[in-house]
Amino acid sequence: MKKTINDIFSAKHQMPLVCLTSYTAPMTKLLDPHCDLLLVGDSVAMVLYGEVNTQSASLEMMIAHGRAVMKSAKRALVVVDMPFGSYEHDKQDALINAQRIMDETGCDALKLEGGEVMADIVHLLTQNDIPVMGHIGLLPQSVTTADGFKVQGRDHEDAQQIMKDAKAISEAGAFCVVVEAVPEPLAAAITGAIQVPTIGIGASAACDGQILVVDDMLGLTDDRVPKFVKQYAALHDQISKAVTLYKHEVQTREFPKAENTYQVKTKTAA
Ligand code: KIV
Repeated sequence: MKKTINDIFSAKHQMPLVCLTSYTAPMTKLLDPHCDLLLVGDSVAMVLYGEVNTQSASLEMMIAHGRAVMKSAKRALVVVDMPFGSYEHDKQDALINAQRIMDETGCDALKLEGGEVMADIVHLLTQNDIPVMGHIGLLPQSVTTADGFKVQGRDHEDAQQIMKDAKAISEAGAFCVVVEAVPEPLAAAITGAIQVPTIGIGASAACDGQILVVDDMLGLTDDRVPKFVKQYAALHDQISKAVTLYKHEVQTREFPKAENTYQVKTKTAA
C-alpha cells in the first residue's frame, strides 16, 4: 500500500520512519520496498552532478529526477526538494513553482529549507493543498563551501532559535520536519515540543525517523562523509574491483566468451 501524508504524520512517537534520498528510477526500485519516504533531494546537484553545493540545483533538474523517482515508487511517499531560488524571495513565485513541481512530477509533497522566516510560505503552500516537509538546523542551501557543513544549535541562543524554527514550521502546517546536524538534547527537545514527526539527519535517535543521502550510506563515494553517516556497504570498492577485472578481461580477450557472443544460424538437415 502506498504511504500517505497521514501515515507519515501519524508516525509521531511510533516506529521510527525509514527515509532515504533517491534520484533515479533504478535506485528507487531498490529502495522503495524498504522505505516509508523517499526524498528527491537537491543534494542531487552534488551527488550526481559533481557540484560543490546544492545551490546549483534547478527547477528543471528537480522535476526530471522527481519524474524518474515517481516511475518506480510504488510504496514510499515521494517528496521533492524545492531548489534554491525557487521559493524564498517571493510568495507567489513559491506557489507557482511548487504547483509546477507537483504537476510535472506527480510527487506527493515538497520540502523547503528554513525556519521562522519561511513559515508564511509553508502556510501559503499548505493552504493551497501542497503538503510540505520542513527542514531546519543545518540548511545546505545556505552553505557555499565544503567546510560550511557544521553542527548547529550548540550554544543556547542558536538552540533557542532552532526550537522556534521547529515550532513555526510545524504550526504553519508542515506534515513533518527534517532536523539536520543538531546535538541530541536539542533534537529530543524539538521532537517532544512539536506535533509532527521529526526526521533526523545527524540529529540522533531521539527523532521520529531518520534520513540519509543514499550514496553516502551505500559507500558509493570515496569522498569523506560526515560523522553522522553510517556506511552499510562499500559499493565504491566493489565497483572499482569489478571494473578493474573487466579491464583485464577485455585487454586479455577473456571477455567476451562464446556465451556472450552471437553465432550465425546453422541449417539443420531435414
Ligand atoms: O537534499 C537532501 O539530500 C536533503 C537531505 C540531506 C535531508 O535535504
